[in-house]
Amino acid sequence: MELSPIESRVIGVEIQNLDLAKPLDRETVAAINDALNRYLVLVIRGQRLCDPDLLAFSRHLGELDPPGPNPYGEPFLKDFPEINVISNVVEQGRPIGNLGAGEAAWHADMTYIDVPPKAAVLYALEIPVDGAGDTYFASMFAAYDALPPDLKLEIDGKVTVHDASRNSAGMLRRGYTEVTDVRETRGALHPLVRTDPRSGRKALFLGRRHNSYVTGMPVEDSENLLDRLWTHATQSGFTMRHRWRAGDVLIWNNPAVLHRRDPFDANSRRIMHRTQIKGVERIA
Ligand code: SIN
Repeated sequence: MELSPIESRVIGVEIQNLDLAKPLDRETVAAINDALNRYLVLVIRGQRLCDPDLLAFSRHLGELDPPGPNPYGEPFLKDFPEINVISNVVEQGRPIGNLGAGEAAWHADMTYIDVPPKAAVLYALEIPVDGAGDTYFASMFAAYDALPPDLKLEIDGKVTVHDASRNSAGMLRRGYTEVTDVRETRGALHPLVRTDPRSGRKALFLGRRHNSYVTGMPVEDSENLLDRLWTHATQSGFTMRHRWRAGDVLIWNNPAVLHRRDPFDANSRRIMHRTQIKGVERIA
């Protein structure tokens, strides 16, 4: 496999000459993991994967983490419950996947649990003909590095609650009710600043903005601080944009990035299959 740069200078790399449908040797898996730690997002184009191929490849990266509860209460692929389907397509009156065609707001995956997934693998099967529905990633290392020193001091040691009630398309998950006071948000508690256990480098750890709350602060102060951090962290200088083609595989280092997706024409078809790799340590 070979690495080649993409447009962004702070995040992302393209991997070429790699066929994910073939068995991978230990050196190649180590090189993929190294690239994921270094560049945070890997772009691998031109793949042809059936679901068992996607699962076999994903298992090279670690134990799989099944998708969180979806709004419909059962796996989208009954034979492959570890795969999440991201799609706007509706068949026989029933959505075949999550998130619809709207914008998916900036978020990291499943940070509402104590040990969020360490990576996600997203494989594009069908993409709208106009290519819309781009996905963006922001490096939380770059965002932390660029914080003003007084803000770094202010957030040091602070903890936030990461809301579990809604998915990134804003849909209420089964078993949850509307949060009316952020001090009552249900979800995991994590430090606002994370230290990468391998490199010792610090990163912001924001999860998702909706219903987030900095514990122990007056609500208004928490809202102001979070607004300031989110505006800073999602600036274009820390981001990359991916324009999808069918056959693309994207892998991201989940705790180290935020991602979001553009809306696209609801009458077009966009189908992606996605796996997640279990995290191995708490965020600290
Ligand atoms: C996601 O948030 O995992 C979905 C990204 C996408 O649909 O491009």
